[in-house]
Amino acid sequence: MRFFCRNLAAGALISLGCSVAAQAQGTVEVLHWWTSGGEAKAVGELKKSFEDAGGTWIDSPIAGGGGDAAMTALRARVVAGNPPTAVQLKGPGIQEWAREGALNDVDAVAQEENWDSVLPPVLAKIMKYEGEYVAAPVNIHRVDWIWANPDVLEKAGVEEMPTTWEEFNAASEKVQAAGLIALAHGGQPWQDATLFEDVVLGVGGPDFYRKALVDLDQEALTGATMVASFDQLRTLRGFVDPNFSGRDWNLATAMVMRGEAAFQIMGDWAKGEFLAAGKVPGEDFLCAPTPGEGFVLNSDSFTFFKVAGEENLVGQKKLASLIMSPGFQKTFNLAKGSIPARTDVPLDDFDTCAKRSHADLVAAIESDSLVPSMAHEMAIPRSVRGEFLDLVTEFFNSDMSSEDAAKRLGEAVARAM
Ligand code: BGC
Repeated sequence: MRFFCRNLAAGALISLGCSVAAQAQGTVEVLHWWTSGGEAKAVGELKKSFEDAGGTWIDSPIAGGGGDAAMTALRARVVAGNPPTAVQLKGPGIQEWAREGALNDVDAVAQEENWDSVLPPVLAKIMKYEGEYVAAPVNIHRVDWIWANPDVLEKAGVEEMPTTWEEFNAASEKVQAAGLIALAHGGQPWQDATLFEDVVLGVGGPDFYRKALVDLDQEALTGATMVASFDQLRTLRGFVDPNFSGRDWNLATAMVMRGEAAFQIMGDWAKGEFLAAGKVPGEDFLCAPTPGEGFVLNSDSFTFFKVAGEENLVGQKKLASLIMSPGFQKTFNLAKGSIPARTDVPLDDFDTCAKRSHADLVAAIESDSLVPSMAHEMAIPRSVRGEFLDLVTEFFNSDMSSEDAAKRLGEAVARAM
C-alpha cells in the first residue's frame, strides 16, 4: 500500500485514503557577510527568489567586509556539528572544506543544467571537488578598480582618471593641495591587502603577481619588484586621512560619494554602494581599472555543507539551481556591482563599468593576464593569506622600510608553508 500511495498524485492520494505527507519545499540557512547597503540589496534578491520558488530562507548574516568574521563563525558552527546549509565561500576555501569531508555535492543539478557549458573554465574548476560541483558561483567581481568623484577631481584640477601610478600620485597630490582627502580607505587588514595586491599587479605585471601571490616564490616575494610595490603602497598611505583606522569599506565609499574624498581603490562591490544610493556611473561617480595590465578576479559562490534531511537537501538543490538561473544572475549582479558568472547572460541592461569589466575579463583570459585575488581568498590557503594580511597591515601602520617589508614577507610566507 505504501508503495502504491507513494506513486500517486496529491488528489488521488486523498480520495484513496493514503496519508498526505507534506512535500519538501526546501529550507536553507544561509551564512553570508553581505550587510552593507548594496550587499543587502543583492542578497535580498536571492532570498526573494528562493521564497518565490516556495522555499524557506533562514538568514545568518555575519557583518565584516571581506568575510573574515564569517569564516571564523563558520568554523565554530562546523566544529559544533551544526553547519549552515549554504555558505558564501570561495576559492581554495571550497577545496579545503571539501577535503575535510564537510560538503554535500550538487552535481546532479549541475549535470542536468549543464553548468560546464555556461561557466568560464576558470570558475568551473574552483566550484568542483574531485570532478563534482560542490558550489555554485553567483558573480564575477573585479578587485582592481579606482572609484572617483568627478566634482572633487574638477575642484582639484584633475582632468582625467589616472592610468599609471605616477598619474595617480600626481592627481592625489593635487587633491590634497585643494584641501580634500585624496584616497578614502578603511584601515582593516583585508582592505590594506586589497590595495597591496592591486599595486603588486600594477607595478610588477601579471607574471610577477602570480609568482609572488599565487606561487609564493621566495625570489619574487623578497626581490626588487616587491620592494618597489611596497614603495608605492607607502606613497598611497600618504594620501589617506588620519581617521582611516578600522573604518568599514562602505564608509570609505560614502566619503567619495559625499565629495569628501576623490578616490577609493576597491572591488566593484563599491559600485553596489553607489547604485544603492541612486548614483549614476559616468555622472555621479567614475570607474577605471587601477594602473597596469591584467584583471584581479574575485568570485562569490555558495557552498553546500553536509546537512541531512529531505527538507534541507531539497533546499540545497533548489538554491543551487536558482543561483545559476540566467534571470537571477542578471537581477543579482545589477544590484551587487559585479557581472554574471554565466557567460550567456546578455549585458545590455548593465552599466558602462560592468561592460568594461566584461570586456577586460575576456581580454585578460585571452592574454593570460587574469590573476586570482589573494586578499579575497581566491589564490592561496587562508593560513598563508593571514601572513600577508598581518605583514601588509603592519607595514601600513608603521614606518617599516620597503626592504624590511619584503624580507619579512618572505620569512612569514616560508613559516606558514
Ligand atoms: C566579497 C564581496 C563583498 C566584499 C566586501 C568580498 O570578499 O567577494 O561580495 O561585497 O568582500 O564585503
